[in-house]
Amino acid sequence: MENNIMAIVMAAGKGTRMKSKKSKLVQKIYGKEIVKRAVENAKKAGVEDIVAVVGYMKEEVMAVLGDSVQYAHQEEMLGTGHAVMQAKKFLEGKRGKVLVLNGDVPLIRPETLNKLIEKSIENKEYATLLTAIYDNPTGYGRIVRDEGGNIEAIVEEKDTTPEQKEIKEINAGIYCFDIEELLTALDKIKPNNAQGEYYITDVIGLMNGKGLKTGAVIVEDNTEILGINDRIQLEMLTKVLQMRINTEHMKNGVTIEDVNNTYIYDNVEIGMDTVIHPNTTIKSGVTIGEDCEIGPNAYIREECKLANKVKVGSFVEIKKAIIGEGTKVPHLSYMGDCEIGEKCNIGCGTITCNYDGLHKSKTIIGNHSFIGSNTNLVAPVTLGDETFIAAGSTITDDVPAYALAIARERQTNKEEWNKK
Ligand code: UD1
Ligand code: MG
Repeated sequence: MENNIMAIVMAAGKGTRMKSKKSKLVQKIYGKEIVKRAVENAKKAGVEDIVAVVGYMKEEVMAVLGDSVQYAHQEEMLGTGHAVMQAKKFLEGKRGKVLVLNGDVPLIRPETLNKLIEKSIENKEYATLLTAIYDNPTGYGRIVRDEGGNIEAIVEEKDTTPEQKEIKEINAGIYCFDIEELLTALDKIKPNNAQGEYYITDVIGLMNGKGLKTGAVIVEDNTEILGINDRIQLEMLTKVLQMRINTEHMKNGVTIEDVNNTYIYDNVEIGMDTVIHPNTTIKSGVTIGEDCEIGPNAYIREECKLANKVKVGSFVEIKKAIIGEGTKVPHLSYMGDCEIGEKCNIGCGTITCNYDGLHKSKTIIGNHSFIGSNTNLVAPVTLGDETFIAAGSTITDDVPAYALAIARERQTNKEEWNKK
């Protein structure tokens, strides 16, 4: 009971500016919903006990989060303080810390959340907030400090005086509170402000008034706390995530020729000395070995596993493909639901015909096989080791090891025909 660390994710807001039929919190960045990213960040920081406050389009939000969190329901959207009040029953009787997170701030690093929790514990602060210094602070709550540098209050844009408008330090919307003192303060918040809302930020002033210590962590990387309100910010955050992921791969020894035109989703493993050419997209969960060459214009979809020294060249799409060491798929191919052995050459224009309109079927190709150009492999089909498929074949039957398979019309030449 002593050292609870839990989290509340505020996810009930409307998100009008997104102009969408969906809740803004279920919009995706790189294939993953904004609110799911917010929850996963808390989990990665080691927080298991998470409550999501849902309201607007809650069925959608709940469908995304499933049983990864518990739910509190906000029937009327009366502000962030009101949102946290709805989660009171999850806090009552507990001691320790609670992280409160805006659900629309998806790129916060778990390390930053840990820093916030650690500072809060070490300095014995009852509220510790994450702040940032922004050149253009418009729209954010401003951090008002006294001469000693202590935080006095957070003032929302709409409630600022002209002098307060000039303050560059802003509230990120991410807090670590002492559970018991948060509960006490929540009962005292009043909607006495320009928007007539209950503000979670008023808790800071209330705690200060009681003489309880509060503090802040200033975030180093400002991009971590960007929120998403519209499609322009959605694109901006996608770019931030793209750079963050690409940079990580480059640090690990992967060559990326053009970081602006390479799209690598989360949880992709790429080995050292692999080169990624431009306009390549690699989906979540893919693993790629060392010394591979990928692209340009390659599309590597879910559940692909590439061994070392594999080449996946231009205009190649692969899906659920397991590809052995040294195999090349150099150009213009679709290889889906397949296992390809070592040192194979998959000729230009090879296609696995994996879908009959109802079911997906598998193609298996043994080691050292040579697939001639423009071959259709009609799955399910198995090719043994060291097979050779003649160019232009449509392979519908299994091919035994070491065989040559030719499956096409024989050519006839009509001599002198074109002189007529
Ligand atoms: C909030 C902060 C502001 C901070 C900014 C950072 C307050 C009063 N202000 O402002 O200081 O600079 O975040 O991004 O907290 N939500 C609910 N129920 C509600 C209202 C909001 O669940 O009744 C949720 C929203 O879905 C969203 C989050 O709370 O995930 C933040 O709400 P939002 O209205 O965007 O607050 P801001 O005006 O951005
Ligand atoms: Mg907002």
